[in-house]
Amino acid sequence: MSLPEPFAHLLREHERIADAVGRARGITEAAAEYGRPDLVAAMVDELQQLQRFMSQDLASHIAQEEEALFPAFLELTQDRRLIDELTVQHDRVGVQRELISGILSALDHHHDEVEVVRVGLADNLSHAIGGITSEVQRSLLAGVRQLDWLLQGHFGDEEDDLFEPGAEVFSSERLDSLAAQLEVVRRRFT
Ligand SMILES: [Fe+2]
Ligand SMILES: [Fe+2]
Repeated sequence: MSLPEPFAHLLREHERIADAVGRARGITEAAAEYGRPDLVAAMVDELQQLQRFMSQDLASHIAQEEEALFPAFLELTQDRRLIDELTVQHDRVGVQRELISGILSALDHHHDEVEVVRVGLADNLSHAIGGITSEVQRSLLAGVRQLDWLLQGHFGDEEDDLFEPGAEVFSSERLDSLAAQLEVVRRRFT
């Protein structure tokens, strides 16, 4: 998929986030499978890094979407071409008018679900500091798997429902102004 900026930038952020979560999942699975103390220590370290990454990079990504990207699509709710692009994807001809706002609120809800899992993972991780029981380890593994699963589905939905149709429909002026708005939000997180 070749996308114009700033959709390409958001796609690169998806890839970076997916890599970070995938790495944490890999080491957590290895630790759970082999139970070696060195792997458990590496897992705790990796999950702590993931928490820092999520409170910085993932939070920045979600803020860019909620504060700039989603509103840019909402503005185009009446645009026939965007609705056409989306109905090709969704085959929901009868609910065209609600299609865009429905997609946006579903994506927004995924962000809330991700936050719930992130907080649960942080909570389990805080128990892990004083010594990790197999129960805590199982909870960590379930949490990181759920996070990976949630984000993979969510990224796919955003790329199919927003980035690709947006690349077809947004004018170059609109792309430029969206890029500038995303940059303003990003600066708050650096
Ligand atoms: Fe998102
Ligand atoms: Fe995203």
